[in-house]
Amino acid sequence: MDNFKKWKDFLLPYKFALDELQTKINIIAEEAKFMNDYNPMEHIKTRLKTPQSIMQKLKRKNIEPTLDNAKMKLFDIAGLRIVCPFTTDIYIIHHQLLKRTDINVVEVKDYIRFPKPNGYQSLHMIIEVPITLSTGVEHVYAEIQLRTLAMDFWASIEHKIFYKYGKAIPAYLEKELKEAAHTANLMDVKMKRIHEEVKSIKQENDDEVYLYLQQP
Ligand code: GTP
Ligand code: MG
Repeated sequence: MDNFKKWKDFLLPYKFALDELQTKINIIAEEAKFMNDYNPMEHIKTRLKTPQSIMQKLKRKNIEPTLDNAKMKLFDIAGLRIVCPFTTDIYIIHHQLLKRTDINVVEVKDYIRFPKPNGYQSLHMIIEVPITLSTGVEHVYAEIQLRTLAMDFWASIEHKIFYKYGKAIPAYLEKELKEAAHTANLMDVKMKRIHEEVKSIKQENDDEVYLYLQQP
């Protein structure tokens, strides 16, 4: 079998896993919006690792670069990033995913409660997804990263700096990044508080209109 066809066959179930997970997550968000008039998700992005980066990652981990090893040992060939307005939304979606019987959560890394030493914050979940194909059911892994907008902003800038400096970030930038992570966290807390306050004012207004309408 030629190389291109081999990779296409290998990656197809991962592409389907992304499609299925994206639909499931959109339904979780839409249902919440319908029930509570509030959308816990800002946006969702998906990505499939390229054959080149799959092979590179196996080599980096000192694993023989074969397709079988890629399937068994790499959990992030399919990746989804869910960006939420607030930290509370992250745990709402996380909880919904844990409850589901149509997927299997195999690992959770909570870098929100326990940030990485550089300040990185996100909630990571490794999910096993059954994919029904004409040939039978295949189980593939996918990595879901849940973040707030502020955490995503920080991670995207940090990622660029990390690559620019070939993984050796100058100490002063490392320190500044860590401070920025702290600032991002403060903003998350502050925006949540403002949001709650506005919500309670809106509720009071709604209650007043309701009472007014109730009057004989
Ligand atoms: P690998 O999957 O082998 O890279 O290691 P791991 O399983 O310990 O990774 P982890 O679950 O900690 O992180 C996986 C992914 O999260 C990375 O590929 C990034 O997308 C993201 N990530 C983790 N740490 C950082 C970080 O310090 N900065 C940024 N910008 N992203 C990070
Ligand atoms: Mg990983």
